[in-house]
Amino acid sequence: MRRTGIFILTITLFLVSCNTNQQSANQSGTDNMEEDLVQVAKDALEFAQVQYTHATNEHTDVNTYPRSLNEDGSVRAVKPRDWTSGFYAGVLWYLYDYTGEEKWREQAEKWTNSLEEIKNYDGTHDLGFMIFCSFGNGYRLTGNELYKEVILTGSETLSTRFNPNVGCIKSWDHGDWKFPVIIDNMMNLEMLYWTSKNSDEDKFYNLSLTHADTTMKNHYRPDYSSFHVVDYDPETGEVIEKVTHQGYADESAWARGQSWGLYGYVMSYRETGEQRYLDHAINIADFLLSKLPQDYVPYWDYDEPGIPDVPRDASAAAIMCSALLELSQLPEVPNSGEYMEAAENMIRKLASPEYTAAEGENGNFILMHSVGHKPKESEVDVPLIYADYYYVESLLRYLEINNAI
Ligand code: GLY
Repeated sequence: MRRTGIFILTITLFLVSCNTNQQSANQSGTDNMEEDLVQVAKDALEFAQVQYTHATNEHTDVNTYPRSLNEDGSVRAVKPRDWTSGFYAGVLWYLYDYTGEEKWREQAEKWTNSLEEIKNYDGTHDLGFMIFCSFGNGYRLTGNELYKEVILTGSETLSTRFNPNVGCIKSWDHGDWKFPVIIDNMMNLEMLYWTSKNSDEDKFYNLSLTHADTTMKNHYRPDYSSFHVVDYDPETGEVIEKVTHQGYADESAWARGQSWGLYGYVMSYRETGEQRYLDHAINIADFLLSKLPQDYVPYWDYDEPGIPDVPRDASAAAIMCSALLELSQLPEVPNSGEYMEAAENMIRKLASPEYTAAEGENGNFILMHSVGHKPKESEVDVPLIYADYYYVESLLRYLEINNAI
């Protein structure tokens, strides 16, 4: 009896010791992987500076904004009213944020200041992207009151597209739709939430909440994938149809749209504290994790029947990565480790030569292999400025989370 007791004690101590060694091996393995990925992220931000130094040396017209590549390989730069016009300044502001170097601030200011006219442009829902990535980051980093005025005026302009019968901001004025609302539009709410906190107006908060609720109700399917376009009757608010414009099919899950939705609801939870937005974001994230390919970079549409012989969309990965990093840091989120792990895998993949361009190539954009509008065969397998923007944002978020900046 006594000998058996000693035997059991010895075995138990042996097992505990093995387990402890294993735990510390795993622990240090995890730590090493994180340290390694922190270095990957730092290297990626160094490379971002190299590429955008080439970009600002070669592209000197401050009234046009690099967006992608033309078919002949030259840089496709767009006018202020293009929906992507604010991302270039946004990347430059993030580089200023990271380095604190005046040269980045000067460059960011140039491509921000030249956008001022858009604050009165009421022909698009995309003012949130256009103004908040440029002037929004600029105000956050410099406190320039002129930038604040542009954001407030831009929010006022954007709010004129809200229809209380529908409960949404109208997305597009083109096409045969009556009142089209696209899932991407969730992203424009970030500027309106900010404005509600930085002005005396309640209306920005109320209309953002209403837009987010209406979108949650009408854009999402039971599996938490999203339609791209929902068209409404502007008089009655009734849904006319649910279709796609940039995806494979009306019923499919267009990859970037799913990322916009995830980011939009994570951000809406941050800005409002409304539990239903967090629950919705978690459901979207879980749906997406169940659909991602093994290497974590989505194909351009999750339901494209030609997978795996179809283009990837690095922009969808970059947007999702940034949203997953934010979600993973919320203490109230179960399975947050899974979201962090997925985001880490995305960073590792995007930072590899498979997706990161060689110096001075790719029109001086960082990431290769995004898809703009596949049904129109426009911007397929190219760099896109918004892929770079959300990638750099993700890198900064990752370093912040790891106390590495
Ligand atoms: N908001 C347009 C796009 O994602 O292509």
